[in-house]
Amino acid sequence: MARSLVSLRCATPADAPTLAELWAEVLRRTDQVERIADLVTVIERAATTDGQRLVVAEYDGEIAGAVHLHVATMTPINLEPIVFAVSPHVFPRFRRHGVGTALIDAAVSYAEERGIGHVATGAAAGSRDANRFMARLSLGPQAVLRVAATPAVRGRLTAQRPAGQRPGNRSGRQLTQVLAARRSLRRSQTPPSVGSH
Ligand SMILES: CC(C)(COP(=O)(O)OP(=O)(O)OC[C@H]1O[C@@H](n2cnc3c(N)ncnc32)[C@H](O)[C@@H]1OP(=O)(O)O)[C@@H](O)C(=O)NCCC(=O)NCCS
Repeated sequence: MARSLVSLRCATPADAPTLAELWAEVLRRTDQVERIADLVTVIERAATTDGQRLVVAEYDGEIAGAVHLHVATMTPINLEPIVFAVSPHVFPRFRRHGVGTALIDAAVSYAEERGIGHVATGAAAGSRDANRFMARLSLGPQAVLRVAATPAVRGRLTAQRPAGQRPGNRSGRQLTQVLAARRSLRRSQTPPSVGSH
């Protein structure tokens, strides 16, 4: 029987530079030193937190891919437990050798070990290969995560308001309201002066 060349283990801090390369597109936009430091934190947190695991897949002894697993609830208001497999990712040169399957297998085993009934993962909306791969494993789309910079959304919300309700007016009005509320609070906390009725 052919020996599988894929093996799985937990990440160690020494893996951080390679994982920064692997996850280059999904880490926060900052310099490489800080990204590696971020990953050391993530790896240490996963190693010491119950309900987290950072799994590294090696192919013939070389790091080929990784996935971050964490136990959570389906959403903050849906308390069904779930294992999130965050950013399963395989270096392009190791793809189509069963590494991605091994990473999802690790997520399913983690859920099974803990008696958790669901697993979830994400796939970049534009990646046909990744979406087909997930669909074949029965991971169907359930929501689209929409992301924007906070000021971009604020800008659109402001532009949608009638002209009279835009900031400038609003911040002045808010300040007046805050000052009035403070005056009223001070009045209610001041003991009545002798002779007042
Ligand atoms: C999606 C991804 C994780 C899959 O990783 P992978 O290592 O290529 O996965 P596998 O090799 O297990 O399976 C991929 C395909 O190769 C096939 N395959 C597996 N072993 C194979 C082998 N030895 N020979 C030929 N084909 C093989 C699988 O059947 C599968 O086919 P399918 O996509 O038609 O279902 C990888 O493509 C990736 O990192 N993509 C970019 C990142 C991404 O979008 N990740 C998702 C969330 S961020």
